[in-house]
Amino acid sequence: MGYHPVSIGIIGMGHVGPHAANSLILQGIADEILVCDENEDKLRAEVQDLNDSTVFAPHRAVITNCHTDYEKLAQCDVIINASGQVTLSAISRTGELFKSVDDARLFAGRIAAAGFTGYYVNVTNPCDVVAREIFRLSGLPSSHVMGTGTCLDSARLRTVIALKTQLAPESIQAYMVGEHGNSQIAAWSSVSIAGKLLNELSDNPRFAMDGAEAESLARKGGYIAYHGKQRTEYAIANAATRIVRAIVHDEKVVLAASVQLNGAYGQKGLFASVPCIIGKDGVEEVLEIDMNDVEKQGFADSCDVIRGNFEKLAPFSVESSRTMPIVLPKHAEDDRRLD
Ligand code: LAC
Repeated sequence: MGYHPVSIGIIGMGHVGPHAANSLILQGIADEILVCDENEDKLRAEVQDLNDSTVFAPHRAVITNCHTDYEKLAQCDVIINASGQVTLSAISRTGELFKSVDDARLFAGRIAAAGFTGYYVNVTNPCDVVAREIFRLSGLPSSHVMGTGTCLDSARLRTVIALKTQLAPESIQAYMVGEHGNSQIAAWSSVSIAGKLLNELSDNPRFAMDGAEAESLARKGGYIAYHGKQRTEYAIANAATRIVRAIVHDEKVVLAASVQLNGAYGQKGLFASVPCIIGKDGVEEVLEIDMNDVEKQGFADSCDVIRGNFEKLAPFSVESSRTMPIVLPKHAEDDRRLD
């Protein structure tokens, strides 16, 4: 029997990284998880706690401490990037722009030089810009790099609708699209249940709702969580886990994710979230859902916000990313959430 362990790398073991590892173990998705963080004490603690947790997992799994030996992750099937400093995102996820991109510029070239041919799932904010930067430096085809993007915000929208209609979220098809940030929009005119558009079901009191209010609740969900605990962790970790599962099990599932747009929706040269098919080849197809004119304009404006952010970045060559020394900044533990 040929045996190929499902091997997942995680960079950044602040808050989101450990939750993603825990989900990957307890859902039986990963056989081994290689974890990196510059904070040795925190990393050692998380590796201990996670390995102890594997006793309760559906099958054997091993978590390995790789500290800042990023090259070791080159053997993985999928790498989750969860490095970052969440307190910089207190007002907007763009607050982490320079820190997050600096971190990505430190590890992406080293991992590329070590021969990584797998997939990246980027969690780190601003998610769309960091995913694009990782893609640029990774040497991989764009189908191998995606961000969690509005996979999470779409989950929030489905949760809002599920609670209002008292339905299971899995019975609701609904997508937030655009930036994983304040400019994202709901593709409300496409929300559907049992093959019918929600807008066509409004005669039934169960399905009558204010779309603008639902969209606003989905957009603000992250900040409601953030304000109480200065981080978000469970839903984002499970969004990343969901995408990893889709890749390693070749699910060909339709999920919203931040992917490179090459003409779809009239957009090029950026990563932004839209529904796409995810399977063993990564982003297998970008799907164009119907949007009304207001939604189309909102999506285009949101793409312009993403462009405005990556245009603020200092130029950085692919060659530099492969040669520069790795000296990661030290942060106070409390200051670090990695998503
Ligand atoms: C959130 C973070 C991950 O929305 O941006 O929860």
